[in-house]
Amino acid sequence: MEIIIQPSADAASQIAARHIAKLVREKPHAVLGLATGSTPLGMYRELVRMHREQGLDFSSVTTFNLDEYVGLPAEHPASYHAFMGEHFFSQVNVAPDRIHIPDGTTRHVPAFCQRYEEMIREAGGIDLQVLGIGSDGHIGFNEPSSSLASRTRIKTLTAQTRQDNAPFFGKPEDVPLHVITMGVGTIMDARQILLLAFGEKKAQAIADAVEGPITAMNPASILQMHPVAKCIVDESAAARLKRLDYYRWVYDHKPDWQKL
Ligand code: F6R
Repeated sequence: MEIIIQPSADAASQIAARHIAKLVREKPHAVLGLATGSTPLGMYRELVRMHREQGLDFSSVTTFNLDEYVGLPAEHPASYHAFMGEHFFSQVNVAPDRIHIPDGTTRHVPAFCQRYEEMIREAGGIDLQVLGIGSDGHIGFNEPSSSLASRTRIKTLTAQTRQDNAPFFGKPEDVPLHVITMGVGTIMDARQILLLAFGEKKAQAIADAVEGPITAMNPASILQMHPVAKCIVDESAAARLKRLDYYRWVYDHKPDWQKL
C-alpha cells in the first residue's frame, strides 16, 4: 500500500481529486466507485471546482456507490442518494442513467444485490474505488468480522457505527440498523483504490489497516493485498503509524514520472 501523508484534510482531498481527474481525462468512460460520509466531502468540492473551472468532463463516466441504508427512500435527507445528489451529482455532468447507488427501499434485497454485482461487471468493473474508513476499520459498511471475500449484500451496523453516524440523523437510535453494501471482495476487484482518512478518530483504524495483520476484525487491512491501493491521510490520522518517516521519505523521493 502506498501511504501518502498530507498536512491537512484539504491537501489530501486535493490529491485524491487530482487522481480521479487524471483517470477521467485519460479514460473518459471510467467507472468510479464512490463513497459518502464526511471524509470525501473535500474531494467532491475539488472535483466540482475542476468541472466548473477546468471543464473536467464526467459525461461518459459511470459511477457505483458503495452503500445505502435499508429503508431510507432516496428523498430522505440522510440517505446516501441525497448526499450524492447534494455534494456531487447535482453539480457536475454525470449522466443520470450512469449513476448507480444501492436501493435502500428494494423489497428483494438478495436479488437487488446480485443485480448490483452484475451491473458492475457489465460496466467493465470499477477502475477506481474511493473509500473512507470507519473508526472500527470498516470499508463500505463491511463491519469487523465481515468476510474478506464478501459481495454486495445486507449488513447490520455496529453500535459504534450508529453512534458515529448519529449526527446525520439526530440520535443513534434513528440510524437504520441495516445497510446494503458492496462486499470486501467487490471492493478488492476495483483496479485502483484510494482510501482516505482524516482526524485522530481514524488513527488507530489506519494503523491497524496499514501495519497490522490482515484480519476480518479490521476489514480495511485486506487492502494490503491490493496491488494498487493508496492510503491518503492527514497528520492526525497518520499519528499512530510506526513507519511514518519511511512513508514520507518514499513520497518525497518519487521518481518524477510517478508524481501527479
Ligand atoms: C460511506 C462508507 C463508510 C464511510 C465510513 C467513514 O459510503 O462506505 O465506510 O466511509 O463510515 O465515514 P466518515 O467519512 O463520515 O467518517
